Amino acid sequence: MSVLRCVVKGSGSYLPEKVLTNDDLSAMVDTSNDWIIERTGIRERHIAAEGEKTSDLAVRAAQEAMRNADVSVDDIDLIVVATATPDLTFPATATIVQRELGVRTGAAFDLQAVCSGFVYGLSTVEKFLISGQHKTALLIGAETFSRILDWKDRTTCVLFGDGAGAFVLKAEEGAGEISDQGVISSFLRADGRMADLLYVDGGPSATQTTGYLRMQGNQVFRQAVQHIAEAVEEAAEEAGVAVSDINWFVPHQANARIITAASRRLGISSDIVVNTVEWHGNTSAASIPLAFHEAVKDGRIKRNDLVMLEAMGGGFTWGAALLRY
Ligand code: ACO
Repeated sequence: MSVLRCVVKGSGSYLPEKVLTNDDLSAMVDTSNDWIIERTGIRERHIAAEGEKTSDLAVRAAQEAMRNADVSVDDIDLIVVATATPDLTFPATATIVQRELGVRTGAAFDLQAVCSGFVYGLSTVEKFLISGQHKTALLIGAETFSRILDWKDRTTCVLFGDGAGAFVLKAEEGAGEISDQGVISSFLRADGRMADLLYVDGGPSATQTTGYLRMQGNQVFRQAVQHIAEAVEEAAEEAGVAVSDINWFVPHQANARIITAASRRLGISSDIVVNTVEWHGNTSAASIPLAFHEAVKDGRIKRNDLVMLEAMGGGFTWGAALLRY
């Protein structure tokens, strides 16, 4: 039976030039390179230049993804930007990206699920494409978390970085089999009772300010491992595959210890885990496409590989998506 599939035709990424090392941070707050590496696995992160906006990072990632997918601006009829750090309260950053890319048709909107944004976005774009309503989409995860960090709070400012990653996704005919390229299954969940464990203490309606990120890190950690494992198992089960069938695991890059603990719980070997947190920090909605693109570039992820993506973030929100590249 022929069905429409949402196929990744190309990926791209962009990291701002400026690198902030753990030693740089040690000069700003009471922390150390050893503490940050031991507790998080992070060595450095990229920080957007003054005046460099989320849309600027998004455009660069999107342009690379379009080149790699061999599509032009005239092919794109849907742009979704997953971000918790939009350029402005409105319009949506996706419309700014649309303008800057020179895309003149289709729809554009932002999606807000914080660190889970790219998985939520992939599941959303899939629905638009397999319905036949749109044909070729840009899904971009782009963040400038440096703008919402309290640089005096050592418990949060050492964890995050800026960056963007993008997929070009196309509706293509598949046979309705597990061997089809494209998104095979996805699983999304949220639990608003946990909103106070990870949030930004400002916003247009509540405070008329932008606010700063606040987090109960150790409580988030405990919840993350459990939810990530659940999401991956559910996405695999829905697809009718075993977790051991996965070729590559591309987790949200929050903390090396979370990734290791979740992989262990799932029985996933570290050999197939794509890990970029060391060099990027946590780039929220951008972390999955940044990691995915790196593994495509260096030849690890190949066409027809089965790839599991997962994320968890503020809300809480969490989810996983299984795709054949
Ligand atoms: N440098 C030095 N010491 C620090 C720092 C720092 N940067 N930050 C905290 N500490 C201190 C604390 O003050 C505390 O000191 P105390 O014992 O004197 O009170 C001590 O280190 C231990 O603090 P914990 O919070 O218990 O340390 P933990 O091992 O939990 O590590 C961390 C903290 C890294 C934040 C961890 O909890 C974590 O990664 N949590 C997940 C948070 C996350 O990734 N959120 C991102 C979004 S959600 C997601 O993507 C999954």
